[in-house]
Amino acid sequence: MNDTIQRRKNGERCNDLLQKILDAEEDPEDPLDDFVVFLHMGLFLQAGSETVSNTLSFCFIELMQNSLVYAKLVDELRDAFPSRDHMPDHETLRRIPYLNAVLNETMRMYLQAGQGIRRIIDKDVVLGGYLIPKERDLKQNLIVKGYFFQTKIIASTSQVARDPTVWSEPEKFKSERFLEEDVPIDAFMPFSSGSRNCIGKNYAYMEMRLALGILVHRFHFEFVLEQEVRISRMASTWSKSHRGALCK
Ligand code: HEM
Repeated sequence: MNDTIQRRKNGERCNDLLQKILDAEEDPEDPLDDFVVFLHMGLFLQAGSETVSNTLSFCFIELMQNSLVYAKLVDELRDAFPSRDHMPDHETLRRIPYLNAVLNETMRMYLQAGQGIRRIIDKDVVLGGYLIPKERDLKQNLIVKGYFFQTKIIASTSQVARDPTVWSEPEKFKSERFLEEDVPIDAFMPFSSGSRNCIGKNYAYMEMRLALGILVHRFHFEFVLEQEVRISRMASTWSKSHRGALCK
């Protein structure tokens, strides 16, 4: 990556994100630090790859375990694209309600980046009867003595997405819930919320609709028999069985 950054700074050009970041530099007297450019690229790579591929993996695991959902999705896609020669396009896919419901239900259940919304508060707040001061005095802390640190709060989006007081049967994969009129949308924040929400949200939806739509339209999938598919919670996210879940 560092070599690529240097080559671009020396005049090589490409039509990609790195170029856009370098071109966005407003002050030639104060160029972007190479390390900062490196961090931006790393963040995009990390935030933009595992999130989408994991969501799609969990989506296929659920489809393979819920034959009615799978059949309904196949029907919707074949209705929308009756000819197998017609490659599903995003403009049509984004309007297929069930496809979007399946993706949303997957994200509700298997929230990626489920560490929640982390924010530093700029004033003291009272939440649920508890005072949360904007700064914490860490004088007592043996490691960091005498510093006041701003308080970071984390709203757990993954807890909210499986809250039984909000969602009926939250542990069940029920895509239909996203077709209902009163979807509790405030409890569904896979891409976070507010001004710092996921910058790649629309791109992620596009990638996932295209991948899921094209694959399910053109191929028939089924689980490879006699395998144990285990899904477990790992810290703030979800993990599949050690050897994955094999489809054919
Ligand atoms: C299923 C897919 C994805 C999910 C669930 C997801 C979720 C999230 C979440 C929860 C955040 C934290 C936002 C916050 O702090 O409030 C975030 C940040 C971010 N995401 Fe995504 N993301 C996805 C796909 C992508 C893609 C495809 C890209 C880029 C192409 C991307 C780029 C980023 C970046 C750069 C940030 C940091 C934004 C900032 O700090 O301002 N994400 N994402």
